[in-house]
Parts: sequence; structure tokens; C-alpha cells
Amino acid sequence: MTTDADALLATMAAALAPSTAALHATGKSFREEIGRGLAGRGGSLKMLPTFVRQPRGDERGQVMFLDWGGTYGRAGIAVLSGDGRVEVEREEVFEFSDEDKTASPEHVFDTIAACLERATGRDRITPRPLGFAYSFPARLERIDRAIALPLTKGWRLQRLEGRDVVELLAQALARRGVRNVAVSAVANDTVAALALLTYRARGHDRLAPPAEVGLIVGTGTNQAADLGARGIRNLESGNFAAVTALQAPCDVALDREVGEPPPGVQRFEKMVAGHYLGEIVRRLVTDLASRSTLFRSWTAGALRSPSGFDTANLSRIEADGSPDLSDTERLLRGMGVESSVEEREALRTLARLVVTRSGRLVAAALLGTLSHMDPRLESPHLVAVDGSLYGGYPGYDRLVRRGLEELAGSERADRIRLEFVKESTALGAAVIAAVARDGA
Ligand code: BGC
Repeated sequence: MTTDADALLATMAAALAPSTAALHATGKSFREEIGRGLAGRGGSLKMLPTFVRQPRGDERGQVMFLDWGGTYGRAGIAVLSGDGRVEVEREEVFEFSDEDKTASPEHVFDTIAACLERATGRDRITPRPLGFAYSFPARLERIDRAIALPLTKGWRLQRLEGRDVVELLAQALARRGVRNVAVSAVANDTVAALALLTYRARGHDRLAPPAEVGLIVGTGTNQAADLGARGIRNLESGNFAAVTALQAPCDVALDREVGEPPPGVQRFEKMVAGHYLGEIVRRLVTDLASRSTLFRSWTAGALRSPSGFDTANLSRIEADGSPDLSDTERLLRGMGVESSVEEREALRTLARLVVTRSGRLVAAALLGTLSHMDPRLESPHLVAVDGSLYGGYPGYDRLVRRGLEELAGSERADRIRLEFVKESTALGAAVIAAVARDGA
């Protein structure tokens, strides 16, 4: 490796590794923003009411679910056994194209309604309660009324803001003649994760303490928290904005240039979540290519175009245990890029820096929430976690755990239990629908 590349890499590494003190300060301002949001004094955390109650654990029966919060979604029927078990009985999937992401809400909801219709089968009679996991920001006015706020994760539908997504879905179902499916609850994916874990815990033991936080680290990132008398709130923590001190030059440029969401919006998410991490790495590679001999020949392939490098690639690189990173070589070749071992190692270094930082930031924000609930972290806390980055990147859970230990010390960190809840969005939506049905 040429010395100039070495020096540039070292500079990038330093910019991507915030100090422990800076992360402490981040956790502290996160906690302050929670207070500000709850008091209605503005700030970057919306602290949205969810109208969701914690499950008792004995809810049972058949309910429908719908999971939409990005490119892929699914709808189906789930069965709750009343003992903490909930299983998918049947399901259908749908997928959106890049064009769909800027289309009209009617177009998008027609696709979703068609999928729901397939999932219902021929039955047009049996009334079906539906739990709708809508994993974008929304201001709930009731458990079944969610007014859309600006979308995230690269979506921008025309004239969606200010409209009730439950109503949009009901209209799309009516257009297809489906009248026996009605939304009984709409909830964010973070709330679904939280509710599912509580359902499971209390299904085994009625007196089990509930999950207090739902955390998603996937295409986007967000937290929900059970704040006792104030109810379960959707923080929309991806929008946390007190990150200036942590930003590297590549973050400032990405925030400015990514287009959707606009600059200044979802700033935490832009440094943490799957929708952006591949793009950060691609930008670092392009930067090195223009200033050193490293990666010079790479700019011909897919790495040249914005968003040309998916975050899933970072997981594949991390999983590549071969001495000369031969799987990474195959991956790059598939993108039209010839690479040297030295370049692949440098790529892996960059990927690790970006993902490690993501895990540490997630830990700092989580401690912000937990220390709002329990300032000295004296009690045990249960956190439900899901998301493609958390579940898909090898060792991501350890990165968060290490971040918690770094910031809270191992004794306090040991009291925080993070439980990965697979498929939590769909199953949790079903649980929430059953809770709402029983309470109605
Ligand atoms: C959305 C949240 C969602 C998170 C994880 C964010 O972009 O704003 O509502 O919970 O992604 O899916």
C-alpha cells in the first residue's frame, strides 16, 4: 500500500471512531431530547403516542397482519395460541420498484391491498381484524388512525403527508371489493417488536416484566419505549439531530447530497442504518481513489454510481473468512471491478469502521433512552431488537454490546438484555391487533 493511501486511511479511521467522551455526550443529549419531546418543547425526537397497550400474554385467535415499511412487505394470517406462541399460518409478499417510491399513495396502497386480498383467500365473509405495521413516521390519533409524516428510507410519495394511512388502505381494499378486512390497530415496527417480546415473555409467565424498548436496526433505525404513565412512545430516533460532533466529512456530504430525506432530516439514521452504510463506504472508496493509487481502477464499475453499493455487501465482506478475501473478490468481480488483495483488505477495514461506529451510536442512543427511565441504570431492562443489519451483519450484536460496556461499564451493561426477535414486525403487528380487538 502506498504511504499516501496509508495516511488517508488513517485519517478516515480517526474521523469514523468518535471518542468515548463524544459518545457519552451523545447519549446525554439523546436523553435531554426525550425530555424536550415529551414536554412538547420541540427537538428532534418526536416521541409520538402509539395507543398500544402491553399484551397480557394470553391473547389468542386468528388475526391478519400487514408489514410495510420499505421495498418489501408482506401480509398474511397469524394464529396466537394464548401461551406466548404466535405463528404465521399463511402469507403473501409484495415488492416495490424504485419508481413506486415516488408514485401516488393510491398506487402503492393498491399493490398492498392486492396482496392482502391474496392472503385472505376466497373468504369474503369472516370479519378479519388486521394489525398494520406501518414503519414510517406517523402521528397516531387513535389506535386505528395514523396521519402520515414525511417518509424516510428514500421514499417520497406524492401528497401522502397529512393523510390517514389506515383510511388509504381501507379505500384500496374497498376498490377491490374486500370488505371483511378492517384495520384494528396500526403500529410502528419498533412497537411491534416490543409487543411481541412482551407477549412471548408473559405467555410463559403472566408476571414477567414487559419489554421496555423496541429497537430496529435495519434499512432504517428507530426506538420505541414504554414510558409508564406516558404510554408506549415511538421516538423516531432516526431523526435524532445532535450528531454534529460525531460527523465525519463523508457524513456531512451524504446528508447534503442524498436527496431524500432532505438535508438535516434523519441525521442519526444516515450514520447508522442499512439504507446508508453501503453508500458511506462507497463514498470513502471513491474519495481514496481520487486522492491515492488505492482503488484507482474501481471507479469503472458499479461503485461509481450513487447507491451502487448495497449494505448487504458489507455483511458478505465481514463473513469472508478466506485469507485473500476470495469471496469479496467474486463479489467485486460481479460488479465489474478487478481488485488486489491489498484493496480488498482496505475495503474491509473501511466497512468495519463504518459498521462499528453504527453499533456504538446505537448503544449510545439506547443508553439515552434507558437512562431516561432509570437514571443510574440500577434495574434490569429488556430490549426487543430486530432489523436486517442487527440480524444480518456478522457480530453486529457484539458491537452494540461492546458499546454498552464502553459507555455504561460492564456491571450496568449486564443488566440490559437485548433479545433478537425474528420476524417481529409481522408477528408483533398480529399481537397488537389481538390486544386492540380484546380491548375494543
Ligand atoms: C422510520 C421508522 C422505522 C425505522 C425502522 C425509519 O426510517 O422512520 O418509523 O421504525 O425506519 O424501520
